[in-house]
Amino acid sequence: HDHLISAKQLSRDDIEAVLDRAATIADDPPDHGDAILALLFFEPSTRTKMSFDTAMKRLGGTTVDMGSVEASSIKKGETLADTVRVVEGYADAIVLRHPSEGAAKMASEFVDVPLINAGDGAGQHPTQTLLDLYTIRENAGLDDLTIGIMGDLKYGRTVHSLASALTNFDARQHFVSPESLRLPRSVRYDLHEAGAKVREHTDLEEVLPALDVLYVTRIQRERFPDENEYRAVAGQYRIDEGTLAAARDDLVVMHPLPRVDEISADVDDTTRAKYFEQAHNGVPVRMALLDAMLGGDDR
Ligand code: CP
Repeated sequence: HDHLISAKQLSRDDIEAVLDRAATIADDPPDHGDAILALLFFEPSTRTKMSFDTAMKRLGGTTVDMGSVEASSIKKGETLADTVRVVEGYADAIVLRHPSEGAAKMASEFVDVPLINAGDGAGQHPTQTLLDLYTIRENAGLDDLTIGIMGDLKYGRTVHSLASALTNFDARQHFVSPESLRLPRSVRYDLHEAGAKVREHTDLEEVLPALDVLYVTRIQRERFPDENEYRAVAGQYRIDEGTLAAARDDLVVMHPLPRVDEISADVDDTTRAKYFEQAHNGVPVRMALLDAMLGGDDR
């Protein structure tokens, strides 16, 4: 693919190729010593930005970083379209995070270098999905998977991408959220069209004992138009060791991070907690993705 905008672009073969490559790429990294990756982050990030930066450098390449919106000419009124048109002259690929849904798709129409969506508002976050799938495959397997996805399913872009990609593996997907934060209609429609095995719940207890994986998400405070709506749901769907008493011993607990208070620290030291491993998997998975998109051997 020239650009990676949505997890809907990814076939099972695409996904398996990246995950297989990620599993060994760090042992003998291909050399992309002449490659420059541009990092354009119009929203805060720790993991996505730093792991793309690390991945490019582990491949022998380098990165150029726009820095914060405040420090860039966006501040003077420059458009996203002009920004990416300029930056494509500086780099071999562009990683873009933006607060507006659809921004990555729009920006990709102005450039010829590969553009990777690193999160577009409440839309999609396809590279997070690749590292999520890698983590699931390592810890629970992707075949015959029963997963619970809990929290902010309305605004959570990692959820929208993951749910879509999991249809390639015929996973049983249980969505757990307050009524006001259900999956958007468009995502439910796409899952239905893909023949996904989907159920929705408001109560984790209904489904917890059946789960192989519980994927917990943060309530996306910055996306709520009204702070009162946020306060009405904040603090629901927290888990701790007590909550998980009814779960299988080998339950895998994941979270794209950052967490606020959704997972109590008492879960961190248990064998179920895989969220830091998940964040670390961002480096080899993004190395494999960059290698493919920049024209590596295993493209
Ligand atoms: N999971 C994730 O996208 O984290 P950051 O917002 O820190 O990049």
